[in-house]
Amino acid sequence: DAAKTELKERIKRLLVEQHAVLVAHYYVDGDLQALAEETGGYVADSLEMARFGAESDAQTLVVCGVRFMGETAKILNPEKRVLMPTLEATCSLDEGCPADAFSAFCDAHPDHSVVVYANTSAEVKARSDWVVTSSIALPIVKHLHERGEKILWAPDKHLGRYVQRQTGAEMLLWDSACVVHEEFKGFALERLRRLHPDAAILVHPESPDEIVDQADVVGSTTQLIKAVCELPNREFIVATDEGIFWKMHQLAPDKRLIAAPTAGEGATCESCAHCPWMAMNALQNLEQVLQRGDQEIQIDEAIRQRAVIPIQRMLEFAR
Ligand code: 13P
Ligand code: SF4
Repeated sequence: DAAKTELKERIKRLLVEQHAVLVAHYYVDGDLQALAEETGGYVADSLEMARFGAESDAQTLVVCGVRFMGETAKILNPEKRVLMPTLEATCSLDEGCPADAFSAFCDAHPDHSVVVYANTSAEVKARSDWVVTSSIALPIVKHLHERGEKILWAPDKHLGRYVQRQTGAEMLLWDSACVVHEEFKGFALERLRRLHPDAAILVHPESPDEIVDQADVVGSTTQLIKAVCELPNREFIVATDEGIFWKMHQLAPDKRLIAAPTAGEGATCESCAHCPWMAMNALQNLEQVLQRGDQEIQIDEAIRQRAVIPIQRMLEFAR
């Protein structure tokens, strides 16, 4: 409608005035993803968001996603201003891994290499040897396992168990989960698969075992989008945040996409997998932060200098 078009035009002008670029995750609102693409920004998974931020020559990065994504951008680009539509957008994994308790866990197991998922605070990253995202976790842990290293893994227990099963590595797992993916139900997925026997099952590895075990493809958001484009199937059942459908529809408009069930029989919501923190990003607060500059990521320099090492290690490995 007209008001939304005007709002988008105002945001575009603000981006130019402030030499700012949008970096958006696939789970945010489709309007934000479209705007990022129309204005020379980027829509991506968390590994690619980190890479893009480091390669862009914009003075200001506006990260549409959740807090850890903004922090990673700042850790890699201390000279840039990193804004977010709201700094309140956190993540249950980040919340579930407080730095003090995590540090004590590491101290108790000094003979383990510390591998942390990107969905963590700068403080937790600063305590780690490696940072990984879902797209690169398997090859990195496989590499460490082949070198004979024992691994302390945090915070996502589901992704940790998936990686452990795939690589055979010796891993101690922190006990936390993504509130969105944890809601997928194995028995309901089995029933849905019987109704769609030709559908390929795409699963993000933050999902529980009972979902991962039914997958044709397990991967990061980018890897799942690629599967929709490349597999010959006409139908897909997708077990991840529904925000991803915007990009899947854009790249493969003729494919049928079905949301994996988050609830069992009798429940009213069968497709409500949507991250409440990703949903905090909107055109309105994006305009506001560009006007006010208030939602700016700040990171203590001593922590940043330690956190950048394991992130750079990941980016080097992924090259
Ligand atoms: P990706 O790295 O696959 O984009 O995942 C990030 C995330 O937060 C998934 O819930
Ligand atoms: Fe965190 Fe889950 Fe939201 Fe991703 S979907 S940001 S893992 S709470």
